Amino acid sequence: KDEAAQSPSSPTPSPTPAASAAKTYKVATDAAYAPFESLSEDKKVVGFTVDVLTAISEKANFKLEFINTPWEGIFATLDTGDRDIVASSVTITDARKATMDFSEPYFEAKQLIAVPEASKVAKADDLKDKKVGVQTGTTGDEVVQKLLGKTSQAIKRFESTPLALKELQNGGIDAVVADNGVVIHFVANNPDAKLKTVEDAGFAPEYYGFAVKKGNLEVVAKINEGLKKIKEDGSYDKIYAKYFGA
Ligand code: ARG
Repeated sequence: KDEAAQSPSSPTPSPTPAASAAKTYKVATDAAYAPFESLSEDKKVVGFTVDVLTAISEKANFKLEFINTPWEGIFATLDTGDRDIVASSVTITDARKATMDFSEPYFEAKQLIAVPEASKVAKADDLKDKKVGVQTGTTGDEVVQKLLGKTSQAIKRFESTPLALKELQNGGIDAVVADNGVVIHFVANNPDAKLKTVEDAGFAPEYYGFAVKKGNLEVVAKINEGLKKIKEDGSYDKIYAKYFGA
């Protein structure tokens, strides 16, 4: 190494200014949500969300450490400082915006009903006399509360969406309401479960965003900058096509 570069008057130049400035953000992800976020065989967090945020980070010069984090309590990890970003197919809602900040949306979703193939359920209203499974504290949970009543005993809550779908497969409940992408993926990949999906026109569109601690506008700005770039240069579309077709 060059001696002169080590002297106090001439500090060691970093390889590139960009590399030295890159911060690493800890990312909370409930990796039980294929195809958006799941665990690979070697226990890495993978999926659409991971690819999108990774592409964003490359454009906006930051690094990521994805950490599988239970959905229950996932937002609290922002306030404690244990995580910098929640990347977990989080729907941007007014209630959540009161306690955290969001990036621009990166995906549009909708609730979807899963029922056994033989079920007569044809619309959301048909769930009113049914036992309905949801993942606790999700927008699916909120939608079913509106249908059945906040305190309804017929709402069965699970810590993950796959657990709810497994219980439906086992006949313990009559339906599951969850994000469309995850329901479609489960039904398609578990033909033995003999489930089908039911749409309801009354379900509003939902938009996924990356959540950060309230006031952490530095990270929001970086994510938005990178998201804009990957939408402009076609890399977002490529990732989308990889998971959902063109
Ligand atoms: N989009 C829904 C919500 O924000 C469900 C997200 C659940 N994500 C997960 N990785 N389990 O409430």
